[in-house]
Amino acid sequence: MNILVIESSPHKHGSSNLLAEEFIRGAEEAGHHISVFDAGHAELHPCLGCEVCGMSGPCVQKDDMAALRERILDANMVVFVTPLYYFGMSAQLKMVLDRCYSFNGQLTAKHLKTALIAAAWDSNDWTMRDLENHYQTLCKYLNFKDQGMILGTGCGTVTMTKRSGFPQKAYEFGKKV
Ligand SMILES: Cc1cc2nc3c(=O)[nH]c(=O)nc-3n(C[C@H](O)[C@H](O)[C@H](O)COP(=O)(O)O)c2cc1C
Repeated sequence: MNILVIESSPHKHGSSNLLAEEFIRGAEEAGHHISVFDAGHAELHPCLGCEVCGMSGPCVQKDDMAALRERILDANMVVFVTPLYYFGMSAQLKMVLDRCYSFNGQLTAKHLKTALIAAAWDSNDWTMRDLENHYQTLCKYLNFKDQGMILGTGCGTVTMTKRSGFPQKAYEFGKKV
């Protein structure tokens, strides 16, 4: 499969990207082709809500979303990677999703395989609840075929993440995807 991994942390070498790297290692070993888009360091702007696209594009804004749109539509699977920010996804990832509005119909028609990888500091049983619910609602609305989630609780720093079982889980997930 052609798998697009969309990272969204300001930390290039932080916890969520560490989990993404382990997923990628496993998926490459399984023979998949992986490409990465780093929304944390891309030139992206929030949706203007101008409605010029009419939900079927093109978007009036000229930034890295134009290329990302093609990459999403070419992919067999997209992996959303995010740090947990106030119990949701990062603004950087939310911006990507909001900008999908300009090709909402094409995206929905694709029945795209997706996955979610997240890292959070806390490890309460409710830490990831709202992020997970949001992701599942997106899957329902956009016809995404969820392939699984790695919800890394207790992954507040790279050291914490390495000590947790989540890098191994992400690797194994990549291997079987
Ligand atoms: C703005 C902000 C909001 C955060 N909100 C949460 C939160 O709601 N719950 C939590 O457990 N951790 C929260 N954290 C901690 C991060 O999720 C955690 O440190 C994570 O490992 C960062 O991942 P990264 O290194 O990939 O950026 C927050 C951190 C920041 C900077």
